[in-house]
Amino acid sequence: MRVVVTGGAGFIGTAVVRALAPTVDDVVVLDSLRPDVHRDAGTAARDRMSALGAQLVEADVRDLPTVRAHLRGADAVVHLAAKVGLGVDLDDMDDYVSSNSLGTATVLRACHSAGVRHVVQASSMVVYGEGAYTCDTHGPVSPALRTTDRLDRGDFDPGCPVCGADLSPALVGEDTAPDPRNTYAATKVAQEQLAAVWARETGGAATSLRLHNVYGPGMPRATPYSGVAAIFWTAAAQGLSPQVYEDGGQRRDFVHVDDVAAAFVAALLRDVPGHTAYNVGSGVVHTIGDLAAKLSLLAGAPHPVVTGRYRLGDVRHITASSERAARELGWRATVPLRAGLDGLSFS
Ligand code: UD1
Repeated sequence: MRVVVTGGAGFIGTAVVRALAPTVDDVVVLDSLRPDVHRDAGTAARDRMSALGAQLVEADVRDLPTVRAHLRGADAVVHLAAKVGLGVDLDDMDDYVSSNSLGTATVLRACHSAGVRHVVQASSMVVYGEGAYTCDTHGPVSPALRTTDRLDRGDFDPGCPVCGADLSPALVGEDTAPDPRNTYAATKVAQEQLAAVWARETGGAATSLRLHNVYGPGMPRATPYSGVAAIFWTAAAQGLSPQVYEDGGQRRDFVHVDDVAAAFVAALLRDVPGHTAYNVGSGVVHTIGDLAAKLSLLAGAPHPVVTGRYRLGDVRHITASSERAARELGWRATVPLRAGLDGLSFS
């Protein structure tokens, strides 16, 4: 079996390439080694790929002739190449759309002309926006956008859209309608929709894995585009207090990168025509404040500081059910957060 992994030299990509080794004869990695991710000009990534026995092709996924040439003869594509994170400001908007939406369209077009009929694509929990909540009086509700007035008052939890009462966050299922709240999330929805169109028109199999917050060894040091686990880990490793936004009560599911890699392998082995999405999380919810405290303790760093600051594009809680992946892919996360954090290096 020959698999092309776009973005395979990155944090999640490296774990996927490693996990593919026992089942796949031939792994080709297409990666642009973009300098805002690979700050050493790609030296470490090249070493990692050669140690794993993967062929690394330095190419941008928007380069159709190159992508098409490397897809010929492939059985499947794992499409990870994307610009990640919440973004710095709106000046990033066109780069997100180009890297993620146009990038995916180009990969799908190349799959079509090269005869590849199986694509597994990295999506994100952020496609759900604020996700699912329950009001004691009004049952399941979809909360309104958090306004700056509310956030400035330190009123971080979204209220019931009918009566304004406090809500309880619930687990989101894959059939929940997408509701992207930032540019990155909007491009992840677009990627999924393009994959669904491709699957319908070609009869191919497209799978979108909606990843929760991924952490683990190999996580990049904090950049303006990093997720919170990398940011807190970098601060704690430098002996600094992690800076917790809002009140630290935001709920997330942190899933270990090796579990995520196993989910990609499981999805590759299920070749069913059409588009299917799966939530990929550990199934255990933690708060951001809890993560900060655990990392500070492990690193021997000062206690986290709860700043009350907020980012308008953030959603309050993101927790989803990964039962569909258990049922249909036979996949479940196996690494508990505490064990996963113990595996990080703080030196
Ligand atoms: C993250 C990823 C997103 C991924 C999603 C999967 C980033 C930036 N976001 O989104 O790509 O698809 O998980 O579910 O990679 N926070 C702090 N202090 C900080 C930074 C963040 O308290 O220094 C808080 C934020 O306010 C937020 C939470 O941590 O409430 C999570 O932030 P972050 O990891 O950036 O974004 P997610 O929305 O979880």
